[in-house]
Amino acid sequence: MAAICLTPLADMGSVADKKRTKSFQRRLLRLGTLCCLTSICFCVSLFQYTLPSSPETSHTAYRARAEGHLCVCACVCVCVMIMKTPGAVLLLLWWGLLVVAAESGGTQDGGATSSHPECEPDIHAVLREMSALIAEQRVQLTHTKAQLEKEIEELKRENKALAENLSAAEARLAANERRAEEQSVQSQQLKDASTEMNHTLQQITSSTQASKVAFSASFSVTENKHIGPFNTDITLIYNHLFTNIGNAYDPNTGIFTAPVRGVYQFRYHIFAGGTHGAGAYLWRNGKTMVHAYNHKAPHDINTSQGVSLLLQVGDTVNLRLGAGAWVSAYTGHFTTFSGQLLFLM
Ligand SMILES: *[C@@H]1O[C@H](CO)[C@@H](O)[C@H](O)[C@H]1NC(C)=O
Ligand SMILES: *[C@@H]1O[C@H](CO)[C@@H](O)[C@H](O)[C@H]1NC(C)=O
Ligand SMILES: *[C@@H]1O[C@H](CO)[C@@H](O)[C@H](O)[C@H]1NC(C)=O
Repeated sequence: MAAICLTPLADMGSVADKKRTKSFQRRLLRLGTLCCLTSICFCVSLFQYTLPSSPETSHTAYRARAEGHLCVCACVCVCVMIMKTPGAVLLLLWWGLLVVAAESGGTQDGGATSSHPECEPDIHAVLREMSALIAEQRVQLTHTKAQLEKEIEELKRENKALAENLSAAEARLAANERRAEEQSVQSQQLKDASTEMNHTLQQITSSTQASKVAFSASFSVTENKHIGPFNTDITLIYNHLFTNIGNAYDPNTGIFTAPVRGVYQFRYHIFAGGTHGAGAYLWRNGKTMVHAYNHKAPHDINTSQGVSLLLQVGDTVNLRLGAGAWVSAYTGHFTTFSGQLLFLM
């Protein structure tokens, strides 16, 4: 354009009216300069508004645009100073319109990004970082959740096993308690049985002990003699003991006392000289049960008797010598008195 503008300058070579020509030349020069500057302004403006407005470059573009505006402003001022004509005002107006139009277009294109150019990169970076962080945390959270679920599952399993064990242990305990109770009952029964058996055993022992009753006695003398005859009956006291198991016979009184209820057998034998009759009654509780007697004889006398009696505990048995009769008390023990328990009743 500058070339097109300068081309007519070269063609103007007429010098017919020097004064007019000079004035015309000056005007032409001014116009040429004006055209030249205007072209530069236009070009700069065009260049500025063709700059890309991506987020990365928007800051630089903004600065460049501001610099362009300053440059165009300077050019327009120079033009106004050179022209000093109403055309200059028109040019200024045109340029102003151009700038306004361009700015409004740039603003529309740039949108919100051009209004706060300095904040953009930070916000984006922060947003990216934050989303990356959120993604990472989400992954971690998922992992942790899975782990927790696994642990909970394991705990549940353990809990179940423990509960089963507990119920099994409780069942065992209950069974043991039942067994212990049964054993206690059995033990008590055994104890009772043992006590009973002890009782029975004691009874048996005592009865066995009591069943051992036997005595056999004669007269204790240093020389042969006779007892009697007397005017009344007397109790014969056999004071020489052959045996006295159970001590039921008293050698001091000649009386036998039954220690247990049972059947007792008694026997007595009497030897005496023939001068008097000889014999004895067997008494139970003071009443005659049996009698052995022999009248006086030319030589000597032998007589005997025996009886079995059911005696109650405390019943007494003894031998009585009747009045007028006698019995021998020889060192050879010809006269004897014996008794024994046959069996308990
Ligand atoms: C359950 O009891 C069995 C044996 O009775 C034992 O081996 C097992 O370890 C127990 N389980 C738990 C969880 O206590
Ligand atoms: C049974 O008797 C024995 C000895 O006589 C005694 O040691 C034991 O304690 C008794 N048992 C009972 C249950 O009475
Ligand atoms: C009486 O018994 C004694 C001693 O056994 C004897 O020596 C005696 O001959 C007997 N007397 C009569 C009459 O049998």
